[in-house]
Amino acid sequence: MIIRKLVVAAAMAAIGSAAMAQPIVIKYSHVVADATPKGQAALKFKELAEKKLPGKVEVQVFPNSQLFGDGKEMEALLLGDVQIIAPSLSKFSKYTPKLQVFDLPFLFDDIEAIDRFQQSPKGQELLNSMSKKGIAGLGFLHNGMKQMSANKVLRTPADAKGLKFRIQTSDVLEAQFKAVGANPQKLSFGEVYQALQSGVVDGQENTWSNIYTQKFHEVQKTIAETNHGVIDYMVIANSAWWDKLPADIKKGLSEAMAESIKIGNKIAYDEGESFKKKIMDDKKAEILKLSKEEVAQWRAAMKPVWAKFEGEIGKDLIEAAQKSNK
Ligand code: LMR
Repeated sequence: MIIRKLVVAAAMAAIGSAAMAQPIVIKYSHVVADATPKGQAALKFKELAEKKLPGKVEVQVFPNSQLFGDGKEMEALLLGDVQIIAPSLSKFSKYTPKLQVFDLPFLFDDIEAIDRFQQSPKGQELLNSMSKKGIAGLGFLHNGMKQMSANKVLRTPADAKGLKFRIQTSDVLEAQFKAVGANPQKLSFGEVYQALQSGVVDGQENTWSNIYTQKFHEVQKTIAETNHGVIDYMVIANSAWWDKLPADIKKGLSEAMAESIKIGNKIAYDEGESFKKKIMDDKKAEILKLSKEEVAQWRAAMKPVWAKFEGEIGKDLIEAAQKSNK
């Protein structure tokens, strides 16, 4: 009798704990707005992961530096306070110098060339280049080509001379602005609007979607269409956490990630120009279309930066990246 009671009690406890099994909570934090390619990809990942693994995972997305801003998010990932982040490729130099290849000015002709390079064997190797540091690369994600904005007319490198530009935490970008006689200042993305508005800096470089969604165009006079570089991302996880996930969860999450990246990339391709149009319609900053000669001046002034970083990045990687241009 007693034994039967014990068996029943144990069975009920087992049922209770199964019913109460908590989903794995996955925090996905980033610094941009929901409407951007990265913002949309993160929301899509939540939708797909929860659909593929019902009751098993709960994905919480934190946009706009709400949970962690630049500078803090990588630390938080390594400490396990957040599980997935997607920093721009310009923010990894502390962990691998190789990703600096993406910051070399005028290296890639367009986003298609960047995609070809990222999908090539050399590009894919970069996803694993930080595994020893506890970082697992889950995939590359696009945003777009960078444009340059300032509180004055900016057509040629001479116009940038003496101006203060906000940059991401990248030594290549620092060298790029020094090459045109400007003063680069490393600042978190969340601080840029305020810095532009108050005149702490005069200008910045970013993609159409970031400029529009952060309202940078409202506090800048001109945006020169330079297409001089790229902002793209690596979606990463803490590798200790990722490696320990049960196989079925890892499979579901990997599929959800691949699909969400595809959708984010499609938005980057299809909607990048629509943000430019929105900026035009707002009539706050003037968009300057540059002549071939003007673009050539920027290129000539900035290109010497390549040689400076060739040792750190590797000649082979730079050449492989160059080959991705058609
Ligand atoms: C920036 O800091 O300007 C960008 O990296 C922000 C982002 O994540 O697109």
